[in-house]
Amino acid sequence: MRVLVTGGAGFIGSAVCRRLVLGYGTAVVNIDKLTYAANLRSLDALAGEPGYAFEQVDICDRADVEGVFAKYEPDATIHLAAESHVDRSITGPSAFINTNVVGTYNMLEAARKYYDRLTPERRDRFRFVHVSTDEVYGSLGAAGLFCEETSYRPSSPYSASKAASDHLAHAWFKTYELPVIISNCSNNYGPYQFPEKLIPLAILNAIECKPLPIYGRGRNVRDWLYVDDHADGLIALLRCGSPGEKYNFGGNSERTNLEVVELICDTLDCMMPAPDERRSLIRFVADRPGHDLRYAIDASKARRELGWAPKGTFEKGIEQTVHWYLDNRSWWAPSRAHVYKGERLGLVRA
Ligand SMILES: NC(=O)c1ccc[n+]([C@@H]2O[C@H](COP(=O)([O-])OP(=O)(O)OC[C@H]3O[C@@H](n4cnc5c(N)ncnc54)[C@H](O)[C@@H]3O)[C@@H](O)[C@H]2O)c1
Repeated sequence: MRVLVTGGAGFIGSAVCRRLVLGYGTAVVNIDKLTYAANLRSLDALAGEPGYAFEQVDICDRADVEGVFAKYEPDATIHLAAESHVDRSITGPSAFINTNVVGTYNMLEAARKYYDRLTPERRDRFRFVHVSTDEVYGSLGAAGLFCEETSYRPSSPYSASKAASDHLAHAWFKTYELPVIISNCSNNYGPYQFPEKLIPLAILNAIECKPLPIYGRGRNVRDWLYVDDHADGLIALLRCGSPGEKYNFGGNSERTNLEVVELICDTLDCMMPAPDERRSLIRFVADRPGHDLRYAIDASKARRELGWAPKGTFEKGIEQTVHWYLDNRSWWAPSRAHVYKGERLGLVRA
């Protein structure tokens, strides 16, 4: 079996590639445009693996995408390539529309053309897993959970572009019978995440004893999932997911942003004590425009139908993640020096 992974040089995509090749012995072709968020070093573990191939391809380029399908003849696709940072979508939505909407349309069309030429046996097995986010559902109040039937109410340009792509993916199933499966997952954390989002940014600032900015009063709640658990869920969809269906993945680990940053501070204080407790570095800053209050996932369908469940606790996952960033300075130091230094993004009026 060979899987075409898009966005495999990014955070979740690289975890999926490593898992497929090293964990399951599955052949992978990874296509990635290599935007600022990509890091080919995340795939160092796959160097020399005969079943692994990489092609630098922009999913907005239909001819190139069709060329990859023709050259590698994959048995399935896991489509992760996207612009993924909400703050950047507020500052500059254009790349989000291009990659997340037009790029997904290209992927679906290229896959459909390819699928239509497959033998009936190979068509039976083919799957197109479209990877999306719980942010498409909008914000929850203090109670309740998102389930697969929750209606879409995206708040940011990022989540609106992902919602649009989900609708396209579903339409390609309904109209063209492309065997699409959609996953909507809560916030991921873990090793190899580009240091612009809450957890890796807080870890690096805390390592360097720099201020730890938290939006608003830090009361926004996210349901955190360790990235390898998400990768396992996506791979389980290839085996047991039903075409035309949606599956929510979540970590059952709701935390306020303030709790998350405090845990990172305490974890680092134990591993690498600083002159002052790192909690003293926390600074409340202007809130994100349109900031959703709370996301939380009911993942019972994935548990029931895929036998999937997150492993480990949030505390353990944070400990592993902090360890990883401490041990892998050479992975993140160049990005921190040259690509993103931690400046504030995503304010409508600076
Ligand atoms: N990070 C999360 O918490 C989270 C949660 C749920 C769902 N998701 C979804 O999972 C997917 C992966 O997220 P991530 O956090 O790994 O993102 P990421 O930003 O770390 O990686 C995205 C990758 O896509 C590539 N890419 C971007 N534009 C491209 C294009 N036009 N053509 C080819 N490649 C392109 C980038 O180079 C990068 O390697 C996204 O679809 C995202 O919406 C993310």
